[in-house]
Amino acid sequence: MYNEQAIKEKMKDKIKNGKSITLMGIESSCDETSVAVVRDGHEILANVITSQIDVHRKFGGVVPEIASRKHLELINPILEEALKEAKIDWSDLDGIAVTYGPGLVGALLVGVSTAKALAYALDLPLIGVNHMEGHIYANFLEKPDLTFPFLCLVVSGGHTDLVYMDEHRCYELLGRTRDDAAGEAFDKVARALGLPYPGGPAIDAMAKEGNPDSIEFPIARFKNGIYDFSFSGLKSAVLNEINHSRQKNEELVVADIAASFQKAVVKALVEKAFLAAKDKGIKEILMAGGVAGNSELRDAMTKEGEKYGIGISYPRPILCTDNAAMITCVAYYQYLTGETAPLSLNAVPNLQLGEKCYEGKLRQKMVKNNTPNPKK
Ligand code: KG4
Ligand code: ZN
Repeated sequence: MYNEQAIKEKMKDKIKNGKSITLMGIESSCDETSVAVVRDGHEILANVITSQIDVHRKFGGVVPEIASRKHLELINPILEEALKEAKIDWSDLDGIAVTYGPGLVGALLVGVSTAKALAYALDLPLIGVNHMEGHIYANFLEKPDLTFPFLCLVVSGGHTDLVYMDEHRCYELLGRTRDDAAGEAFDKVARALGLPYPGGPAIDAMAKEGNPDSIEFPIARFKNGIYDFSFSGLKSAVLNEINHSRQKNEELVVADIAASFQKAVVKALVEKAFLAAKDKGIKEILMAGGVAGNSELRDAMTKEGEKYGIGISYPRPILCTDNAAMITCVAYYQYLTGETAPLSLNAVPNLQLGEKCYEGKLRQKMVKNNTPNPKK
């Protein structure tokens, strides 16, 4: 019988004896099916990512039912491929990690059910991981020795958060978007401009051909919540600009609109990240999530960082967008504290950062000092 307590004891022994820890991680929260094998939290032995973008592109966005079905088709072959690429056997694994939220419920369930079956069959710990933590921890894959405290600008398709961290797995949310996420704004504006899904990389490329100063788009600022973002007004301003041009039968200069829109998003992100960093006396800002792959944002953050002596880190582009290596990296830090999930683990589509919700109903806030820094 599967005994979570006995498994926890084995984990403690492994850590005590300084053994290396090899985990497999599964990510299926949206439109990428991915399986990774990572040793000791940062050595990526395999990170197989299969994107469904081509399937969803003709609908202009992710269709949840199609995503779940595709995950089901892909997951088993990808598990095998990851093991082969890592040149290990099932018996070499020390645990199974899986994204259990936030994300699309049907898509998440494919990963969660697979991980539960594997943990049960192999008698291994099951580790439930928050997808947004995964994005942040992609930075630890690149730089395991990052020193606290730092700020993290998390910019993805569903989130735009400014997070303060002074130790592992403790998150203080300083600011967030009040409406659209940055990635969502990129996708919606791209669609209106007739650019393909996903819009972020398409606008990034198109903007290089355009004049970012051709149109001045608005940037939202708040008196209460100075670190908060808002992108829906900007999105509407771009849509108005497109409609006015069409009504006047003017030729739409897609590259100029793309460049001006991107400039406004980047300005808002940089402005608030640095405002918070200066207020908090932070010396390092991390970037995470799909939009962190944006070339203009990376350049602008780096330049501003040089000006104020603040270090800027971001993962390579493939680790910015959804992938299982980042999930497996968080799982390593959970393993170190014996944080396993029961086999009753369920998908939690609206899981918040810094929250644990293994039993379906009971939502627990992450407490301070619950995870020692393994480097200390
Ligand atoms: O983190 P991610 O892969 O998935 C979520 O968890 O949402 O982020 C996907 C988002 C999409 O909105 C996509 O358009 C955006 O990231 N994105 C970009 C770039 N690459 C991906 N946005 C701006 N510039 C990019 N180069
Ligand atoms: Zn993501």
